[in-house]
Amino acid sequence: AAHVDNDLVNVLFTEEQILERIGELAQEIETDYDGKELLIVGILRGAVMVMADMARAFTRHVEMDWMAVSSYGSGTKSSGVVRILKDLDTDISGRHVVIVDEIIDTGLTLSWLSSNLSSRNPASVQICTLLRKPEALQMPVDVKYVGWDIPNEFVVGYGLDYRERYRNLRDIGTLAPHVYS
Ligand code: PRP
Ligand code: MG
Repeated sequence: AAHVDNDLVNVLFTEEQILERIGELAQEIETDYDGKELLIVGILRGAVMVMADMARAFTRHVEMDWMAVSSYGSGTKSSGVVRILKDLDTDISGRHVVIVDEIIDTGLTLSWLSSNLSSRNPASVQICTLLRKPEALQMPVDVKYVGWDIPNEFVVGYGLDYRERYRNLRDIGTLAPHVYS
């Protein structure tokens, strides 16, 4: 079988760096939500890895829930229209919510999700993302917790896919050109 690591041409963040940064973010969140109940909401499917590691980095109680969304149309996100494929199981009214995703690219997903969740009368809604591409942003998104800002390059690994592959890489990096051809 092909070895998944062999297609990475440039590692941006190693597993070790990722875990360290997530630990820092978790600590920041713990401090900010001290004395409050906290629900973290992961956005399927990309956020599975960061949710798993962040939840275990907390030393406090935390509830986890999940949403799955998809953009309408021909697979592009240019319409800005998002549809819910799987909604929360939790009633978030009166709850403190942190939405967790692994990347903000155009910002369409998170900007839509944040206003959607905000309309459900939560006590608060904040966003945490491991990666953000400032140059790709098309919609303003108010992000409280960011792991790293990265250049506008296609990255895979740690939940990020190319045609549903490479999500299970431990590192985050760019793909070798031969993968695309
Ligand atoms: C990716 C990524 C973010 C979103 C960011 O998810 O995981 O959720 O796109 O892009 P945006 O800022 O341009 O909206 P995707 O919808 O591809 O699904 P996936 O999580 O299942 O990979
Ligand atoms: Mg996603």
